[in-house]
Amino acid sequence: MIIATLQRKGGVGKTTIAANMAYALASLTNREVTLLDWDAQGSLTRWAGRGSGFLSRAVRPYNVADDADPVAWATDALSVVAERKDHLTVIDTAPSYDDLSTLALMHADVFVIPVQPSPLDLEAAHDVIELIEQGIPGRSAPPLVALVPSKTKPRADLSAKIGGALDACGCIVLAAIGDRVANAEAAMVGMVTAEYKPRDQATTEWANLAKQLSKLIRR
Ligand SMILES: Nc1ncnc2c1ncn2[C@@H]1O[C@H](COP(=O)(O)OP(=O)(O)OP(=O)(O)O)[C@@H](O)[C@H]1O
Ligand SMILES: [Mg+2]
Repeated sequence: MIIATLQRKGGVGKTTIAANMAYALASLTNREVTLLDWDAQGSLTRWAGRGSGFLSRAVRPYNVADDADPVAWATDALSVVAERKDHLTVIDTAPSYDDLSTLALMHADVFVIPVQPSPLDLEAAHDVIELIEQGIPGRSAPPLVALVPSKTKPRADLSAKIGGALDACGCIVLAAIGDRVANAEAAMVGMVTAEYKPRDQATTEWANLAKQLSKLIRR
C-alpha cells in the first residue's frame, strides 16, 4: 500500500502530513511504515536528521547523486518496499509536477491532498483532482483521492467555507488538521507531534486522520 501527499502549491503541509500521518498509521495499525522523501528540497530528510526518533528510522532520505537519474533512483526504492508484504509506504512529493511526482502518480494507491483555507489552494486542489480523474497513463486502476483541510485556524470563517466548498466537490474529505504550534515545534526538534506532545490536541487530530484513512484503505 502506497500513500502519497500531492499538491502543486508550496507550503500547504504536504511534508508535515506525510510525517505525522505515517507515525499515526504505524501506531494504529502496527504495520511497518517507510517514508520516501521524493522532494529535492529534502525537507523530510532534514527533519529526520534533526532527531533520533521515528523519523530517523522510517525516512529514506533524498540522496540522488548529481549525475544520477532521480526516476531510476526512486524506482529502485519502490521495488525494495514492494517486496515487503503488509508494509505501508508514504511518499512526500515536491510542490510541482516533476518527474518524481509523476512516478508517484503512476504508483500510489492513495493520494492525500492538503488544502489550506484559501481560494488559491482550492483551485490548486481542483487541478490535482482533475489531473487524476483524466486518467494517468500507465495505471490500470484509478487511485483513491482524499483531501485534508490543512493548517486551518479555529473559528476562522474561511476554514468553515473551505469545508463547504470541499464537500460540494463530492470528494472524500478527511478531518481537518489545525494550524497548531506543537506541529511546527515538533518539526524543529526532529520529532513528529505525537512524540513531542503526546497529549496535545494536534496529536489527537493526527490520530483521527489515521483512523479515517485506515478505514478507507480497508474498504
Ligand atoms: N498543521 C500545522 N500546524 C502548524 N504548522 C504547520 C502545520 N502544517 C505545516 N506547518 C508548518 O508550515 C510550514 C510548511 O509546511 P510543510 O513543509 O509541511 O509544507 P509543504 O507543503 O511540504 O511545503 P513544500 O511545498 O515546500 O514542500 C512548515 O514550517 C511547517 O512546520
Ligand atoms: Mg514539503
